[in-house]
Amino acid sequence: MKFVLASHNKKKLKEMADILGKFGIQIELLPENAPEPEENGKTFAENARIKAVSAMKFTGLPAIADDSGLCVDALGGKPGIYSARYCEGSDADRNALLLKNMQGKNNRKCYFACAICCAFPDGSFIDSFGKCEGEVLNNPKGDNGFGYDPIFYVREHKCTFGELSPQIKDEISHRAVAIRDVANKLKKYIQE
Ligand code: IMP
Repeated sequence: MKFVLASHNKKKLKEMADILGKFGIQIELLPENAPEPEENGKTFAENARIKAVSAMKFTGLPAIADDSGLCVDALGGKPGIYSARYCEGSDADRNALLLKNMQGKNNRKCYFACAICCAFPDGSFIDSFGKCEGEVLNNPKGDNGFGYDPIFYVREHKCTFGELSPQIKDEISHRAVAIRDVANKLKKYIQE
């Protein structure tokens, strides 16, 4: 079965292709001229579905989309679905804003969330979700990864996602959990 990934991100393609390939599922990037749908959902799952449906309609292929972000307990789940748009500027600016908003907060618990949606041309869907729990550190540490990785501390590994090797991050991340879940569901879907 061939899928289109509702993203232009080659790193995401590799991560998805590595896991889904084991199930005989091929995956390709969305053509550059595909429309960018407005991500106006209220949840990660709704935004993933909006992106998957748009890619499926444009290509006529089954489409897979993800939506992810960081949810911080002491900030009522923010930045959440607004993680990429928390403020203008760079990832470093967004990390700085988050740390400013966390000043004086004792509860540092947070989690990365990832929703994945597969949209099929017959109108059916498969939805998956993955979570990875951590704590917001006081200062950024590490140059690996992207986004909020330098301030996301993982107790089990005693370091931030920014310090963790990409191999380990790709095993334990919210995205990895969601991709494995969707792969298992797809396996069943294909067998039926
Ligand atoms: P998207 O769903 O790939 O568009 O990601 C949304 C935003 O969430 C990103 O721009 C990052 O700010 C944040 N984010 C999602 N996943 C990660 C991650 O694995 N590490 C760091 N930040 C992430």
